[in-house]
Amino acid sequence: MTISVIGHGYVGLVSAAVFSDLGNTVWVVGRTPEKIEKLKKGVMPFYEPGLEETVKRNLSAGRLKFTLNYSDAIPGASIIFICVGTPSKETGEADLSAVYLAAKEISKNLKNYTVVVTKSTVPVGTNRQVAKIVKEGIGKKANFDIASCPEFLREGSALSDTLNPDRIVIGVDSKRAEELLLDLHKSINGARVVTTIESAEMIKYASNSLLSTKISFANAMSFICDAVGADVEVVLNGVGLDRRLGRSFLYPGVGFGGSCFPKDVKALIAISKKNGYNFELLKSVYKVNREARERFVDKIVKTLKKIKGKTLAVWGLSFKPNTDDMREAPSIEIIAALKSKGAKIKAFDPIAIENASKKISGVVFCDSPMKAVEDADALIVLTEWNEFKQIDLSKIKRLMKGNYLFDGRNMYDPQKIKNLGFIYKGIGRE
Ligand SMILES: NC(=O)c1ccc[n+]([C@@H]2O[C@H](COP(=O)([O-])OP(=O)(O)OC[C@H]3O[C@@H](n4cnc5c(N)ncnc54)[C@H](O)[C@@H]3O)[C@@H](O)[C@H]2O)c1
Repeated sequence: MTISVIGHGYVGLVSAAVFSDLGNTVWVVGRTPEKIEKLKKGVMPFYEPGLEETVKRNLSAGRLKFTLNYSDAIPGASIIFICVGTPSKETGEADLSAVYLAAKEISKNLKNYTVVVTKSTVPVGTNRQVAKIVKEGIGKKANFDIASCPEFLREGSALSDTLNPDRIVIGVDSKRAEELLLDLHKSINGARVVTTIESAEMIKYASNSLLSTKISFANAMSFICDAVGADVEVVLNGVGLDRRLGRSFLYPGVGFGGSCFPKDVKALIAISKKNGYNFELLKSVYKVNREARERFVDKIVKTLKKIKGKTLAVWGLSFKPNTDDMREAPSIEIIAALKSKGAKIKAFDPIAIENASKKISGVVFCDSPMKAVEDADALIVLTEWNEFKQIDLSKIKRLMKGNYLFDGRNMYDPQKIKNLGFIYKGIGRE
């Protein structure tokens, strides 16, 4: 099958890589000449495990093609995936301008029957608007269907998530589109949810909002555990053993970040408001997320007492492990708050330093975790990279001037850390 993908971000490029690996011919349409030139040579615009190899393999096989021109990619495609960004506007609503621009460009180049699918996360009603735009663009002889196939991949494991999803959601109102999409996904496992376009659009927001809610619940529990002297990890483990609940996403920390959870929570609050519902629960989820970062900074300040002039080592800058994505990373605000109080920051991240240096200034970026802790008064862990789990912390302690360890992801066993001579402060446990 020939398919086209608009946008080569995490969703677009990973989808294109996987669909081409499954034997399809895939065109990827971008808008930045330098990026497209690099992609043609197999140079990735971001880090994602396994992606470069898959892209290169399919480039060499001639199945994966990159272009700036919709006229190359659209006329021969049976299915077109819109995978462009939908960032937050000031109001919290999703900015759909890139989706609608893509729809307009698609309409000018459609020739044969095609299914125009939105994979980007979009509010209910967006696909209907895409249909309107495409119809206007191609005139009366419109020969297309629309579909909503929201994407659920996670950065850091995006390829395996795309190949082994829990579910594939297909929102359609035409049998022909449904069959074509089921056929395209036939070699991919996972439950099929074939539904209306409106329900498909909403499933994505509901999923991300519930995952965010679980994280904020875990964080709120950590606040109260700190206050009463309980260990939040023991508490949530005890909770998670209940088969009705499970432990998944009940992990306290410095709050969720990235390009999806904060944006999608805000968008669902905005969608609800527009439709007459005041989604107080989600407003609290967002508030608790901010509070998690603020309380962590307070904990550092209270523990160290005088922070001015102190050297603080920060491990982990990306919003989560296995990615170099710095969008809405908690490290940005936490480092800014510590710097504003006069701390000197030495930071290390396994792969996000290049992107971090565009968002964080006035810190010393180090090329190893050891360099970052040299002469530091305290070590602060903000991202749970495996590399930090396995590190020899007794060696780390010897390199440091002080002995404080602030564990923003509850990565370490407090007792083991204390036995090494550290003063340990985690999230909701000491
Ligand atoms: N990143 C994730 O983990 C993830 C997971 C599931 C869903 N999503 C959703 O998928 C969508 C895309 O997310 P992403 O992370 O891939 O975004 P991204 O910012 O990584 O990439 C967006 C891409 O769209 C391109 N683009 C924008 N306008 C364009 C246009 N007019 N023509 C061609 N290309 C254009 C950009 O150049 C970029 O390559 C968003 O709605 C997001 O919420 C993201």
